[in-house]
Amino acid sequence: MTEERDTSNLHPETRAIRAGRADNDTALAPILWATTTFVTPTVDEARKMATGVGPSRFYARYGNPTVAGFEDAIAQLEGAEKARAFASGMGAISAVVLGLCSKGDHIVTQNQLYGATQLLFQAVCPRFGIDVTFVDGTEPGAFAAAVIPGRTTMIYAETPANPRLDLVDLAEIGAIMGPVKVVDSTFATPFAQRPLEFGIDLVVHSATKGIAGHNDATIGVVAGAADYIDWLYSFAVIQGAVASPFDAMNALRGLRTLGVRLERQSKNAGEIARFLEANPKVASVRWPGLESHPQYELAQRQLDIPGGQLAFELLGGLDAGRTFVEAVQIAQLATSLGGPETLVTHPASTTHVGLSPEELEAAGIQPSTIRVSVGLEHADDLIADFAQAIDQIK
Ligand SMILES: Cc1ncc(COP(=O)(O)O)c(C=O)c1O
Repeated sequence: MTEERDTSNLHPETRAIRAGRADNDTALAPILWATTTFVTPTVDEARKMATGVGPSRFYARYGNPTVAGFEDAIAQLEGAEKARAFASGMGAISAVVLGLCSKGDHIVTQNQLYGATQLLFQAVCPRFGIDVTFVDGTEPGAFAAAVIPGRTTMIYAETPANPRLDLVDLAEIGAIMGPVKVVDSTFATPFAQRPLEFGIDLVVHSATKGIAGHNDATIGVVAGAADYIDWLYSFAVIQGAVASPFDAMNALRGLRTLGVRLERQSKNAGEIARFLEANPKVASVRWPGLESHPQYELAQRQLDIPGGQLAFELLGGLDAGRTFVEAVQIAQLATSLGGPETLVTHPASTTHVGLSPEELEAAGIQPSTIRVSVGLEHADDLIADFAQAIDQIK
């Protein structure tokens, strides 16, 4: 077994390469431990594992060495004591919410959320007697004002938020005392933002996105203080939304190149955002690196790099949006983000289809809103593709 050195003094790029190798033996690439169970030599040994926290060589639902490598790497990149991987981003998010909150608790969250997370708060939590207040996450002081002292047990934010890149002020959330503070940092990845540095307790990711980064792994992760992760572990073993070793292997492989991928995606996104801003058929563009982003100053303070996600609205409503997403030829109409291929998504009919017209409005999602996950193609080819697709709008 290769001994891991303390990497806390290293830059994220170097940490992403060095991390998660403890169970590699002499192999350079992660070993795929595709086993559901492990042999325990004695009853005492088996009992120790069955009652311990997160053994990686007992039974796959409790832990797995390949998955543990991915978890260690994420913990290192987020500056966390520990991380726990799940079968998807929603597996991680539902474990955090339902594992830490109980009947009678109160959660404060925002209007601008990934659609399934919104449905968890709106439709699932009330069934378990958990009250949820939704605020405008972009409004200064809104989260703090909605906290009910003695009752609010969790603050849950998503920044940059899906799909319109709305931002939540992490320092402001981090300063709120009492409730456990959770941030979905999927759009940022640990290379653009590290919420724990702002006083946030737990950071969650759909690692399916930029972290794994190749559209070939469905996996989620939560990182934070050991106390929280150990508590969640007890719930996770029962919940059973366990990360598969194959997906963890792919996610760890993706993590190695995340820094360079994000740089290229962010550069491409900036060029596309500026092209769109200058196009007369485009009503508005959202990218945190644009000075026209309503929270540009916050983006400068909080994000190390604006990233490859952007959103825009076309003049001409639903018809214009439909024409555009069906006309692109290099970009593709598909629901996910953070991979090498540029993808366009129509949130109102896919990721946020479960929201009512009022909720869509509160989240700022219009019938013509298009989310773009900018990939690794050449920016000139993407701009030419977007130009021909916009030209087809009547
Ligand atoms: C911000 C955000 N959080 C969570 C999720 C859910 O992730 P998964 O699809 O891995 O469950 C998504 C999916 O698109 C997302 O965009």
